Amino acid sequence: MERVLSGIQPTGAVTLGNYIGAMQRFVQMQEEADCYFCVVNMHALTIPQDPELLKQRTIDLVAIYLATGLDPAKSTIFVQSQVPAHAEAAWLLQCVARVGELNRMVQFKEKGKGSESVLAGLYTYPVLMAADILLYNPKRVPVGEDQKQHLELTREIAERFNRDYAEIFTLPEPYIGEVGARIMGLDNPTKKMSKSADSEFNYITLLDEPKKIEKKLKRAVTDSENVIRFDPVAKPGISNLLNIYSSLSGKSIKELEKQYEGLGYGQFKKDLIEVTIDHLAPIQSRFHEIRNSGEVEQVLKQGREKAAAVADETLKRIKDAMGII
Ligand code: TYM
Repeated sequence: MERVLSGIQPTGAVTLGNYIGAMQRFVQMQEEADCYFCVVNMHALTIPQDPELLKQRTIDLVAIYLATGLDPAKSTIFVQSQVPAHAEAAWLLQCVARVGELNRMVQFKEKGKGSESVLAGLYTYPVLMAADILLYNPKRVPVGEDQKQHLELTREIAERFNRDYAEIFTLPEPYIGEVGARIMGLDNPTKKMSKSADSEFNYITLLDEPKKIEKKLKRAVTDSENVIRFDPVAKPGISNLLNIYSSLSGKSIKELEKQYEGLGYGQFKKDLIEVTIDHLAPIQSRFHEIRNSGEVEQVLKQGREKAAAVADETLKRIKDAMGII
């Protein structure tokens, strides 16, 4: 069976961007592939974190994985730090990656803004991500558009290792959806929706209450044309809302354009609010149930063992090829 791996950082609320770009597709993929999904808590340390909050958010994210429908009988769900091979492989692969490659990473440039006080971990972050991936030799990595460059670097590292040391790694393909690969900010649809945005009107989180969802979607930026048509350049706001609507309802954008022919933004937003609240309600109630049970600990114990069995084996081969006793 084909192998798949992906991860999400526990750095705050999970947004609709994370959900539509990544998680919703994790749930689909577990039906057809041998899936590994991790919470990448060591990546979170690349920007300063409150230790207690980081612990809590790590567990919450596992509970959200389960609440969205990931099934531990089908997918291996684990926390990055609980499989020490990730940190070890990251070091070894830092001795394969080149500074020229890391210098080109757009996300580092955007987040680091050239500041001297940026943590060194933020710079080497893509290599830890390459380790996360390559230890499992997955064929596909489901991610949003913003991770594409990190995947390209992962492939370069894998290719170089295969050539210079030993043919160990499968070259992973990014698996990016046609709809929803880049959900934009509600308050500024020319930039991606992000949990680190300045205003909470930028995003909807999976745990937002109905009233809040309504308020945020009502305020979402549109345009003055009052026509529901998909055109990301001329109509970024409406096109983004169409993407969200399509992803949450399962209707295609074409179908939605047809459904709203002759209707205005008022009706469209009203329906989108309802679709969003209805989609998130069962996830939210499952989240609270799971969080109050001992389920997360159990899932992680099993996940850690399964993940480590695969990762340790690959790590052994990497070390052997590099001459590390
Ligand atoms: P992170 O935690 O920032 O985001 C998790 C996933 O959500 C996707 N995403 C989006 N998709 C569509 N629209 C958006 N606005 C949006 N915002 C976020 C991201 O593309 C991602 O798929 N470096 C990664 C985490 C990581 C990882 C890995 C991923 C670490 N190791 C191994 C895959 C495989 C990150 O920071 O994602």
